[in-house]
Amino acid sequence: MRTSAEREVIIFKNISALSLFVTEKWLELSEEAIAQKGIFTLALSGGKTPATLYKIMAGSSGRFQWEKTHIFFADERFVPHEHKESNYGMVKSILLDHIDIPPQNIHPVPITRDVRSSAMQYENELVSFFSHEPGTLPCFDLILLGIGKDGHTASLFPGEPFFHYSGNLAAAVDAEGHSARTRITLTLPVINNSGRIYFMVTGDDKAEVIRQIIEEKDSGLPASGVRTRKGMPLFLLDEGAAGRLSENIKR
Ligand code: 6PG
Repeated sequence: MRTSAEREVIIFKNISALSLFVTEKWLELSEEAIAQKGIFTLALSGGKTPATLYKIMAGSSGRFQWEKTHIFFADERFVPHEHKESNYGMVKSILLDHIDIPPQNIHPVPITRDVRSSAMQYENELVSFFSHEPGTLPCFDLILLGIGKDGHTASLFPGEPFFHYSGNLAAAVDAEGHSARTRITLTLPVINNSGRIYFMVTGDDKAEVIRQIIEEKDSGLPASGVRTRKGMPLFLLDEGAAGRLSENIKR
């Protein structure tokens, strides 16, 4: 494992090492948050990359205080929860079905008759859970995000007005042209109000987009706009995804 403190990049040999790192961090951050305020809140992503993490978490579930953990989703595809492309469905089958978490601690994106009312219901859930007051935003302790080859993160796609959702906590995204699925996403202001953000990215097909996001100041890609309350997100990469980074960042 190599780290670069300035750029907040950690490069791992493979997805297992990366996922084990996140497991330990999840434990550490959850213990800290629970000691401070009694609960740990996080938003998870779908996609393929976090599946290994969710498997590891399911296998070591006895170490975690699930009754004090609240799980939300960074984004969701607009499909029924039972659908094979549902992010909730994926996390449920790999992780949630295998841990002792109270059902009321799980906050999937509701999938209702239309995508806009689903986004609104998710927003209402966020508002009521975080006791949202005018002018304030939910603050997740941790958000786990992936990055697509086009630089999207959560369901904030290039070319979409992802910076202009500032009045909303969740938004419907017509992903036509980006993906076969319409989606619902946390908006950038909510993502950027979290305590920690870990980007988990693997594979050499992501190497070029990772180079742009980390090394180009103004790539204009959605993932480049992600910050936390305290500063920069942490990039957790495997060697493939880090393959085009300059040597000074890799060392
Ligand atoms: C989704 C996501 C999305 C994902 C990236 C990376 O629902 O697809 O939340 O933002 O994290 O597309 O996906 P992979 O991990 O499959 O590369």
